[in-house]
This record gives sequence, structure tokens and C-alpha cells, in this order.
Amino acid sequence: MATMHMSVRAEDLSQMPKGGERIPDPGVLVIFGASGDLTKRKLLPALFHLYQANLLPDRFAIVGVARRALGDAFAAEMLAGIVEFGGVDAADPKLASFVEHISYFPLHFDDPAHYASLKAELDRLAAERNIGPGRLYYLATAPEFFAGIVENLGAQAMAQPDNGHAAVVIEKPFGHDLDSARELNQQVNAVFHEDQVFRIDHYLGKETVQNLLVFRFANGIFEPIWNRNYIDHVQITVAETLGVEGRGPFYEKAGALRDVVQNHMMELLALVALEPPSSFEADSVRREKLKVWRAIPSIPVTDAVRGQYGPGLVNGERVIGYRDEERVSPESGTETFAALRLSIDNWRWAGVPFFLRAGKRLRKRATEISIQFKQPPLLIFNRLHATGPCTEIQPNLLTIRIQPDEGIALRFGAKVPTTSQMAVCPVNMDFDYASAFGKSSANGYERLLLDALLGDQTLFSHRDGVETNWALYKPLLDAWGARTPDVFPNYFAGTWGPDCAIHLLEKTGHLWRNDLGRQ
Ligand code: BG6
Repeated sequence: MATMHMSVRAEDLSQMPKGGERIPDPGVLVIFGASGDLTKRKLLPALFHLYQANLLPDRFAIVGVARRALGDAFAAEMLAGIVEFGGVDAADPKLASFVEHISYFPLHFDDPAHYASLKAELDRLAAERNIGPGRLYYLATAPEFFAGIVENLGAQAMAQPDNGHAAVVIEKPFGHDLDSARELNQQVNAVFHEDQVFRIDHYLGKETVQNLLVFRFANGIFEPIWNRNYIDHVQITVAETLGVEGRGPFYEKAGALRDVVQNHMMELLALVALEPPSSFEADSVRREKLKVWRAIPSIPVTDAVRGQYGPGLVNGERVIGYRDEERVSPESGTETFAALRLSIDNWRWAGVPFFLRAGKRLRKRATEISIQFKQPPLLIFNRLHATGPCTEIQPNLLTIRIQPDEGIALRFGAKVPTTSQMAVCPVNMDFDYASAFGKSSANGYERLLLDALLGDQTLFSHRDGVETNWALYKPLLDAWGARTPDVFPNYFAGTWGPDCAIHLLEKTGHLWRNDLGRQ
């Protein structure tokens, strides 16, 4: 397929306003579970990127908290992580001053006495550096510790500091099902008011995901056709080539539906489907998302399929099957692939199917949304029976590439030059993020951390949204949990998943798009 590339000239970019980013008030960021991978690979690199961009206040402290006695080794390990995972030059002069803001405090998450010591240490640090009472607690631990940490923070009055503001950031998974999510919400809200709670979905930190709102609501031409009258169907794919990467015990309990579909994919779906919010503010945006989720009838088992990968070839390399992964049951019934069809019962979307699929060890890494428009009402060119390489008229297709090669493409039919007949060939108008704006080393946590520090909840999940999504998937989760499929594994690693996913779409005469990525 031919492609026209669109780009922004470097000189245009240098003229662009840098944006009046707000800078958070002085405060202490306390990361629980700081010895884990997330802190080193994502959180500290993102914090350093903010620091490089002068977006952190002059007076701040980052305190890592975990069980091990790490002492000064913690800051050194974080520096190494910033260089390795943050694309930062080890000779960057800002590293030395940044590291002065980092310290470590060993703590047993379930020992109340340790929290009294932690509180004293935070107060001491804040007084010494004139930081003030602002506190942001980031829970990056295993989920079983969330409730206990929150309770202990409450017991020490650390959630409501004197004359100050405190907030808590909670990593996913937020609950394992509807009941556990409700219980966790109650436990968290018993200590923190909802406007102090920041439930992270890291997909919302991705530039391309935020751009969905800009694309829809900063441009006038798409909104009039963004509905059932013009759109045939929507596909959302989160395809990964990675397997479970040593996270066997976690994944055994999760599976693709809980791990990716019920949260990340539902966020993507909501941004595609929501009505225009009246402003880009937490309440407006979150209210519109909730309306979308509430308009989705719960998904019957017959509209969903699951898969599990066996051995195969991924990117030319032989890989083992899921059941042979470390600490995974050889009879595991956990799905590593899920695909489903859902509908949104409102005026805009009635009758438009949304197809979602997510899987590990698939052919290619690609997260994409594609909006397929309806065929023109009369196909006059096909009637000429043109012959040649491109005679098939395909419907317009808008693809939004979330990752890895971020961009947006619009497919349309063009006349093939120099043919005597009206041969039509599909071509792409393509906007590519990297060539327009340059490659960024940001990992998405920059935006989320900055917003949490600023107290802006727009890109974070609300209690009601989390519970609505768990409720939506409850029948499916219950049904799948009750029975292991007879034919597992049912797809080879390195393919596009099990055949049942193809059949799911065939029922309505649709096909999955497998030419993902930049064409
Ligand atoms: C995480 C899941 O939330 O998202 C992982 O737990 C998954 O299993 C990851 O690999 C995908 O995120 P990304 O940003 O790589 O698409």
C-alpha cells in the first residue's frame, strides 16, 4: 500500500509554545515497594526526566521504602536505573544534584510500629530541608499489602498531615474481581478521601492515548462522522511478543482478561467512545468515561474466546509454551489471550460492534485502535471490472497506533496512475509521531507522576469506574474461572492467536486486521 507521510518541520516545532506547565508544591514522595523493578525501571527515570525539565519543585525528597536494609545502596541503584532505563547520559551533570534528594527507609509493611518511625523520619527530613507537610505515598508493592499500608498510614495520621496535603497513588491490579475491588475501595476510602486517591493505569500516561482526546476534540472534521451512521466497527488490539517474563505466579492468578482487557483496553475504548467532555478536567472526563462503561451490556460467554500459547517461534527465536514457564502449572487454565465483542448501547454507538483482543507471545508487538468506516453507498468503480494489481475498493480505515511506532493513518482509495481503467488502490495518509516531534525517552510515568504531585486526577481511575468495569466482566470471569478449556494450549507462540478468535469475528462477517504497525 502506498503511503503519504506528513511531518512537522523542526523550525515549526521550535516556535511552538513550551506550555505553561505548573510546578508542584514542595513535598515528600514516599515509594513503598521501592526495591522492585517498577521503581528502578519506570518511576525514578520518569522523576529524573521531570527534574531535567525543571518540573519538580526546588524543595522535594524521594524516600524509598521496602523491607530490605538497602541504605545508601538504594540511591546508587536508582542512579544506575535512570541511566539504563531512562536513556540518560551517565555524565549528565544533573544526576549528582538529583541523587541528593533520594533516601531510603527500611520498613515491614505490616508492622505498625515501623510507621511511627517512618512518620518521624519524614518529619525530620521535611524540617531539615524546609519541605513542608505535603506527602505523596506511592504504593508500588504487591497488591496484598495495599490495604495494610493504607490502614497503617491512617493509624499514624499520615493521611491527613497537620496543615498539609497527602495523597496516595495505587498501582494496578486494583482488586482481583468485583468483590475484592469494592473491599479495597472501602479500605482506602476509610483513610483517604476519594480526591486524595490516584489509581494508576499506566496506559493513560502514554502520549498517544492522551492524543486520542486531542485528535477527537481539537479537530472539527472527525466528530460529525464519529458515530453509528458512518462507522462500521472498531477494533482494539494489544498484541505483545513477550511472554510472562518470570511473573508466572502473578499471571497464573490474573490472565489476559484481568491483566490487560478489563483495565487498559477499557480505558482505550472509553476514550474512543465517550461524548465530548465539557472540559479537560477530572470530573468531566471521568464522568463521560463512566457513561460509556455503564452503557455496555455485560459480555456473554458466547461473545468471548480465550487462548493459551504453546511453544513456537517469536521474532525468529524458539520460545517455550506458557505451561512450561517458570512457576506456572503444567495444567494451567489461565488465558494468555482473550478476544471479545461488545456493544455500547447508546445513541452514538447502537449497532456498532467493538472487537477487543489482547495476547502474549503473538506475532508482533502492537497496540492499535482501528476505526473502520462504512463502504460508500454505491461502488461505481468496481463496476468497470478493472484488472490490475489494485482493483478492490476497501472501506476507509483510521488506525491509531498507540505503540510501538506511534502515529495515525487514514486509508483511502486512490486512482492508480497510467492505467487505462479506473483502477483503485488503497493508500495511507500517515502521521508519524517520531518524525513530527522527535523520539522521546519518556515512559509515560512522567505525566502521571507530575499530575499526582499536582493533585490532578484527570488521568487516574475513579472508584466508580473501577467497580463498573469489574462488574461488567464478572460473568465472563466467573464462567472462565469455573472451567479450564479442553484444548489448551490452543495457539502457537508467534501467531495471531487461536482460530476461535477468527471465528468470533466471522460470525458477523468481520476480519481481524493483522497488518498492524506502520505500513
Ligand atoms: C501491564 C501488564 O499492566 O501492562 C503486563 O501487567 C503487560 O502484563 C503490560 O505486559 C503492557 O504494557 P505496555 O505499556 O508494554 O503495553
